[in-house]
Amino acid sequence: MPSNEERIALLAAAQLARQHAHAPYSRFKVGAAVLDEQRRIHAGCNVENAAYPQGLCAEAVALGAMVAAGGRRAHALLLLGEGPALLTPCGGCRQKLREFADGATPVLLADAEGVRRTLTLDELLPHGFGAAHLAAR
Ligand code: THU
Repeated sequence: MPSNEERIALLAAAQLARQHAHAPYSRFKVGAAVLDEQRRIHAGCNVENAAYPQGLCAEAVALGAMVAAGGRRAHALLLLGEGPALLTPCGGCRQKLREFADGATPVLLADAEGVRRTLTLDELLPHGFGAAHLAAR
């Protein structure tokens, strides 16, 4: 679990990244921030594309930034969006997070009010597919 200070820093990082979102098509700006095993924070925003399927989710960008900086494990992920319902990670991003996290990893869901709810990855992606399924071949 992130400390209180880390939660505040995750939220601030996601808020800043969200301001930089490139979302001219959906106009739905998303920010994400990951806490790595060295307790460093990596942020991302969604990056859309005129060829719609080529767009990137904020979580994918944040996880990519973590890996590029040498981080290997996600201790927590915060997701920030504003809309009629509290934003939850899309299915593909739940799978992407599973690569670097475990079932108990907290996913903090935030909106303009701050963190509204925390779910574990297991709650978001039960019975998920992972590296262990490939091991015994
Ligand atoms: N989006 C994310 O960045 N993360 C999610 O988990 C859900 C969706 C983005 C993708 C697209 O740029 C916009 O939100 C609308 O789907």
